[in-house]
Amino acid sequence: MDNYHPPNGAVKPTEPNHRHEKKPKLTRHISEPEIRQEFSHHQTNVARINNGSFGSCPRSVLAAQNSWQFHFLQQPDDFFFNTLRKGILNSRLIIKDLINADDVEDISLVDNATTAAAIVLQQIGRKFASGNFRKNDTVIMFHCAYKAVKKSIDAYLTPVGASVIEVQLPFPVRSDEEIVAEFKKGLERGKIKGGRVRLAIIDHITSMPSVVIPVRELIRICREQEVDQVFVDGAHAIGSLHVDVKEIGADFYVSNLYKWFFSPPSVAFLYCNNKNKKLSNVHHPVVSQEYGNGLPAESAWVGMRDYSPQLVVPSIMEFVNRFEGGIEGIMKRNHDVVVKMGIMLKESWGTNLGSPPEMCASMIMVGLPSKLGVMSDDDALRLRFYLRVYHAIEVPVYYQALRNGEMDPRDKYGFITGYVRISHQVYNTVDDYHRLKTAIVQLLEDRKVCSDLPKE
Ligand SMILES: Cc1ncc(COP(=O)(O)O)c(C=O)c1O
Repeated sequence: MDNYHPPNGAVKPTEPNHRHEKKPKLTRHISEPEIRQEFSHHQTNVARINNGSFGSCPRSVLAAQNSWQFHFLQQPDDFFFNTLRKGILNSRLIIKDLINADDVEDISLVDNATTAAAIVLQQIGRKFASGNFRKNDTVIMFHCAYKAVKKSIDAYLTPVGASVIEVQLPFPVRSDEEIVAEFKKGLERGKIKGGRVRLAIIDHITSMPSVVIPVRELIRICREQEVDQVFVDGAHAIGSLHVDVKEIGADFYVSNLYKWFFSPPSVAFLYCNNKNKKLSNVHHPVVSQEYGNGLPAESAWVGMRDYSPQLVVPSIMEFVNRFEGGIEGIMKRNHDVVVKMGIMLKESWGTNLGSPPEMCASMIMVGLPSKLGVMSDDDALRLRFYLRVYHAIEVPVYYQALRNGEMDPRDKYGFITGYVRISHQVYNTVDDYHRLKTAIVQLLEDRKVCSDLPKE
């Protein structure tokens, strides 16, 4: 490692035993030009206000990843026997401290939230298959749980007899209490046929529509109601919300590092509370020679592949610590700006926010003018495509059907059934949001509705 020279600008991969070394305090924070430089690989002129989907990775972290890859290629045997495991352990130790876990053995690094869902759900599936859990026993989740998670239930749990309770997430939502009330009703439904709720899957931040869920309160209720296991899908959480797994109290908690924590694609951490003795038989879905050595070891070797995303966590810390307040400072500023931009958009369009600011992190839902006529998922897709192709604006669009008897939300001309989900990350500028505002105003001035727009 000592005679290894990282490519220009690279952050040299941090060796595991450097973790507790005291670094000299930075005397100045990253400047605007330096931030621009860190994201200078982003295509220019694209208003990229969708960090929530694919995240972003700065150049210094990409360079560190690249140097890990070279390090491996220089001497693969030595890397495998002497570096890889220590490097992954180092990343896990950093995550453990960041999320206030008790034990590094509770932290595994996996590819993404979908893999974590497979780990959790396959384990539940085995309990159904072996007769520990019975027909009529259920899994509870919000109706807007991520599609891959829902499909994983179809694949791993439905065939072995589990049934599913879907709780409708109120949207637009006004308070935590509205969500808690719906969730409690769902738990009651779970008991109807004498079954037990075996697993609650609770998003920390739902994807679409995006809302921060009161996870602590919902988990407290799950414990009272003797739900066996709780899996928090915090795919969007780390880097956009403070995560303290002790306070949250889930059995499993996953968060992608690539969305809001600046990692390259793709790595996520899965926290598994090993103190809960009811959790047994938890395995990575890919079986390797590490099978049976515990989930962290199983996840650290799933056969030959590139492990560099799992190794760059120290370099991510170096990057975020160049900002005032580190990752907490980034989160707070992202939240403040996304709320400000959400309010600016809803005021200029005469619409609403999908949730109060305190129920969002670095993403917020903003109502689209009713005159645009977002009347279906297809309309929402047309608008998204139009904004990308004709205005170089990347933003997800959501269609929310009105439920029977609902009289709001409305703007001056009718019901609001479309929303954009805007994100804010350190590379965004106010101009990105003004471009969106203008593109929508232009459509209204041209009297266009979504069904007039071209289909992708
Ligand atoms: C709430 C939620 N869960 C799970 C996922 C799946 O994440 P991945 O594609 O990284 O597996 C996403 C992706 O956006 C998500 O938003």
